[in-house]
Amino acid sequence: MKLQDHLAIITGGGRGMGRADCLLLAKEGATVISLDKNGENARNVAEEVRQQGGRAEAYGVDITNTAEVNRVVQEVADKYKRIDILVNNAGFDDIKPFIDTTEKDWDFLIDLNLKGHLRVTKAVLPHMIAANKGAIVFISSDAARVGSTGEAVYGAAKAGIIGFTKTLAREEARHGIRANCICPGLTDTPQFQANLADPKIGKIMRSVEKWIPLKRFGKPEEIAKAVLFFVSDDSSFVTGQVLSVSGGLTMV
Ligand SMILES: NC(=O)c1ccc[n+]([C@@H]2O[C@H](COP(=O)([O-])OP(=O)(O)OC[C@H]3O[C@@H](n4cnc5c(N)ncnc54)[C@H](O)[C@@H]3O)[C@@H](O)[C@H]2O)c1
Repeated sequence: MKLQDHLAIITGGGRGMGRADCLLLAKEGATVISLDKNGENARNVAEEVRQQGGRAEAYGVDITNTAEVNRVVQEVADKYKRIDILVNNAGFDDIKPFIDTTEKDWDFLIDLNLKGHLRVTKAVLPHMIAANKGAIVFISSDAARVGSTGEAVYGAAKAGIIGFTKTLAREEARHGIRANCICPGLTDTPQFQANLADPKIGKIMRSVEKWIPLKRFGKPEEIAKAVLFFVSDDSSFVTGQVLSVSGGLTMV
């Protein structure tokens, strides 16, 4: 097992990619702490992990709430005396043309998709620095690398994550902490299904599918495999990198 005795915090662990991350990292021996705004989903995933023989705990946490994030991360650190892995996965987009967005929409999307990751990282970092060890993965999006119709502000926030990953990797290398970033392409999760069901958005998604060299959408488990690579020793000499997992849709 690649993550024996490791403690991993995964945001948005209640469904979709976060759920797949919880299941795979636990299979590799990590104790997974699933943080999700939807506490019930997070608890269900923790139960799934336990049923497959792993260790997991769940917390209902909104990553846009600094006090809540700080309190829960401290609680986890006090209980387990270590935080080895952080997967910054939680995110959301309300897809619509930029011209139709308001400043309130921008604030919401940036607060969640960019500042949400900063908040959790800021809370976790001191524990990794004290241990002189850590692996952090950010889930950005190919929307940040090549653009995506209807995702202007989300894409901007996700591009911010790429820049943040690179500087964090430089700053924290001396503490033995690595930071890397994954850009999923269209991946079949509950949020993806909700978007696909929308006539306008679904039409765009179907048209994009034709341009994916591997001719299909991704699966959450395929993103989780890339997460496992970045948080395990398999990537011990890799930091500050951005990996698209998108069936070849983007090659940048
Ligand atoms: N599915 C795709 O096609 C796709 C493509 C590129 C990037 N992404 C990114 O991948 C990540 C996971 O996406 P997904 O498709 O699995 O989404 P999803 O909506 O299926 O799951 C996201 C999870 O995050 C949780 N969450 C949302 N806001 C939160 C908050 N404020 N605090 C705590 N938890 C919160 C949700 O409750 C949910 O359980 C997101 O960052 C998303 O932007 C997804």
